[in-house]
Amino acid sequence: MDTKLFFGSAAGFQTSTLAVFAVDVTAGKDAEPQPMLLTKLDEVTSAASLALQSGEFKAALGETLLIHAPAGLKAGRLLIVGLGKVNDLSVDQVRKGAGTAVRAAKPRSVREMAIVFPEAGVLADQPADDLSAMLTARAMAEGAKLANMDWDTYRSERKDASVHSLTIVAGETGPSLVQEIQTGFDVGLIVAAAQNFARSLVNEPGNVLTPTELGARAKAMCDEAGLKCEVHSSAKLQELKMEAFWAVAKGSAEPPALIVMTYEPKGGAKKDAPVLGLVGKGITFDTGGISIKPADGMEKMKYDMAGAAAMIGAMHAIARLKPAVKVIGVVCSAENMPDGKAFKPGDVVTAMSGTTVEIVNTDAEGRLVLADGLHYAKTLGCTHLINAATLTGACVVALGLLNFGIFSNDDATYEKFVAALKISGEKGWRLPCTDDYRDHIKSQIADIMNTGKNRYGGAISAAMFLKEFAGETPWVHLDIAGCAWNEESKPWIAYGPSGIAVRSILEWVRSYSA
Ligand code: BES
Ligand code: ZN
Ligand code: ZN
Repeated sequence: MDTKLFFGSAAGFQTSTLAVFAVDVTAGKDAEPQPMLLTKLDEVTSAASLALQSGEFKAALGETLLIHAPAGLKAGRLLIVGLGKVNDLSVDQVRKGAGTAVRAAKPRSVREMAIVFPEAGVLADQPADDLSAMLTARAMAEGAKLANMDWDTYRSERKDASVHSLTIVAGETGPSLVQEIQTGFDVGLIVAAAQNFARSLVNEPGNVLTPTELGARAKAMCDEAGLKCEVHSSAKLQELKMEAFWAVAKGSAEPPALIVMTYEPKGGAKKDAPVLGLVGKGITFDTGGISIKPADGMEKMKYDMAGAAAMIGAMHAIARLKPAVKVIGVVCSAENMPDGKAFKPGDVVTAMSGTTVEIVNTDAEGRLVLADGLHYAKTLGCTHLINAATLTGACVVALGLLNFGIFSNDDATYEKFVAALKISGEKGWRLPCTDDYRDHIKSQIADIMNTGKNRYGGAISAAMFLKEFAGETPWVHLDIAGCAWNEESKPWIAYGPSGIAVRSILEWVRSYSA
């Protein structure tokens, strides 16, 4: 999608479809909805007035109303897009609104459109925070680009229904606001491209996206973006004594991939400056191994590499946004298969850190590959670690599909991540991993075991396992099992890979930029 900014009047802007946001300004629960446009432009308000008075449009989030040949406007159509109650208004609603506009246009064969930038001060009399112009512009660019994707690449009757050209129309404003909007917009395009790249990886079936192929795609991205990238396989795992990672990998005919992507800030990293490690679970297909999963729903396990995709996507944006902090992305990719050579329950392996692990369930493979990934990141000099993984069904049971689980061994690092969530608009909820849970992973046979002693608090047991390998290094663990795949489409986003965590991880990285 070709995306542009235009500073001038929306009334005179020539476009097939002009979208404008509306909020519901009623306060009470039972009051009739009262839509209000986020522009005071006379031509737009009068073109919309009859339709708004009709009462058919409530300005709910994701709701749209289309007016043909709106009088007084150069646009062929006026699309009114609801953002929900004014009290709930945030930049994230704007992101979803821009997405809704694009997804309403796609099936109507609209290939070129425009969206009106919310007018400054229009909410001045309302109980809403005034939206930051920079974050609003960024959210609009992100929402529109994310919404333009549909994951039908493998359907032969597929027709391209995407919007090819989108203009965000901001009124004429002073140079400082223009600069703010331009900056936010530029960042938004980069972030959305990175998230869409991550989504495209997650969408690939396991027969196409093997660990080797994931490595090749990460390498191609890094070459293009100017990042250093090394892709290792079985021999390197042996050399580094990554027995935990290798245990998972060895049952597959597909060799594993250890992907290391390095971003150096301009002028090199300063001495004693933080080095951030981004570690991703890249299981390109999880059968469960010898502890095999039931057939029902197993096809979903192609997205068991969504944590890896989030890190590769984040590195893509980091290369382009150039924060002043060194970042190393480590992806541990393998296929978890049952086989004569596969690892078995009862096996004991020694992780790269020297910790011995009793394998109780081969379906708890993610924590094994991450154990070596986290330890390896430390040996590369990482001072702060973040990992993302579709790690446990238990986390999905605990938090549902809306929030990913957040675990951390360090409150300050966790707080930085929470601040990042505010900007990304993504949702996560902290769960505990305090030392009193250490019991969960105690083994009679080895130092630790790879499951909890019972089913209770399964997401926490997995986090306790990872914490063992983070050690004293400040660390955040994201369990994204419930959020990596959109089980239903929404007005602003398609069914399929979500690209969750790319935006939050990126924002967390940027918060360390000196
Ligand atoms: N990849 C799964 C977790 C998962 C579940 C991801 C649902 C996405 C959606 C993980 O490897 C797994 O199988 N975990 C087991 C752990 C158990 C054996 C201790 C689980 O959650 O059941
Ligand atoms: Zn598993
Ligand atoms: Zn898994």
